[in-house]
Amino acid sequence: MAYQFSREDYERRMAWYTQARFGMFIHWGLYAIPARGEWVRSEERIPNEQYDPYLQEFNPGACDIRSWMRAAKEAGMQYVVLTAKHHDGFCLYDSAYTDFKSTNTPAGRDFVREYTEAAREFGLRVGLYFSIIDWRHPDFPHFGDRQHPMRDNPAYGNEGRNFDRYLDYMHAQIRELCTNYGKLDLLWFDFAYDNLRGEAWRATELMDMVRTLQPDVIIDNRLEVSGEGFGSLADCRPTPYHGDFVTPETMIPPSGLRDAEGRPLVWESCVTMNNHWGYCATDHFFKPASLLIKKLVECVSKGGNMILNVGPDAQGRIPDQSLDILREMGRWMERNGRSIYGCGPAGLEKPEFGRFTRRGNTLYYHVYENALGPLPVPGVDKGSILSIRRLADGTEAPLSTSWVHSDYPDVAFVNLGPDPVLPDETDTVLEIQLRP
Ligand code: GLC
Repeated sequence: MAYQFSREDYERRMAWYTQARFGMFIHWGLYAIPARGEWVRSEERIPNEQYDPYLQEFNPGACDIRSWMRAAKEAGMQYVVLTAKHHDGFCLYDSAYTDFKSTNTPAGRDFVREYTEAAREFGLRVGLYFSIIDWRHPDFPHFGDRQHPMRDNPAYGNEGRNFDRYLDYMHAQIRELCTNYGKLDLLWFDFAYDNLRGEAWRATELMDMVRTLQPDVIIDNRLEVSGEGFGSLADCRPTPYHGDFVTPETMIPPSGLRDAEGRPLVWESCVTMNNHWGYCATDHFFKPASLLIKKLVECVSKGGNMILNVGPDAQGRIPDQSLDILREMGRWMERNGRSIYGCGPAGLEKPEFGRFTRRGNTLYYHVYENALGPLPVPGVDKGSILSIRRLADGTEAPLSTSWVHSDYPDVAFVNLGPDPVLPDETDTVLEIQLRP
């Protein structure tokens, strides 16, 4: 079947995803053993002979994937994406085309199977990350490549390497993932660069296969681009291998994203909790949960999703700092998730004291800083306000009728009570019902 873009099909398959807004990324593999991040092979130019032995050691006795899924669920996340294979070439599943896989370690487990089953059990949408780059396969360019571990070692020249043979391997591995693990909701390919873009990966052929096997799957844009670049859907000239969403990496587009014809583009900001994706034992620079809550709100207010990463260690444990962050975000999401799910930009300027998100006629005012006394609701016609409640507990928040506000007859000032400290110091959300 030759895949062709149709706006109608596109919008149908994207519906759950733009509702969901908040997901979990999981980067996990052999690199958890050296524990210096998932790029360790490339950064330290580690050859196969030195990296392969980790295979014999990988035995994450504490790995309980259901507990990962529980943590995602309790944080309010609605989808999950696990690295089935990262750039190092190690597979977390039982690929028939390589021995470099988790079923071949002392663990002897197919983690993709455990994961897909656990995610579904917890009602989470199932995503798989797959690196189209492979630093272990002999037919992938070595010497002179931009990031291969052997890139500056002339002893690893590319004579006799047959990239087409690599592509056969890669396509076959993706076929396995699309065939053996039930319905996949999302595929996250990573990534195109230099001359290796689009058809260099035999992308049309690949996408025809994927879309035939998994007709509803949502796919990122990294067969065309990487964390930089928007892809052909943004140009309104979708290739057969266009991405369904844009993937800004560890950044949030300053004012959201639109395609060349002005339509809002679907995007997902991928975000690390510290400064690495894969487990890094010395990276303690975790972002506070309060900051990450505000970043999630920022994404939604600009029409995007946020996928927040965890990097389990070599024992298969999500680091404690990450679990604490997830729990704290979950406490906020449990009370305020309505201001996130299915919400998007409010069509109003960012208010001085916080941010707006909106779903239909319901406006959410995320208040980060209190005013002196009642709080102005800028840009909203006072007469259009039907009611204002604190989202977390449903408490009514009346409009001020005080004489001190009488000089501003058009501005709604909402009275949050006598306490100058906001009930939620991170983000106190007001749910404002507007007249249809
Ligand atoms: C990247 C990286 C990487 C990470 C990722 C997540 O470009 O190479 O290690 O998996 O994208 O967005």
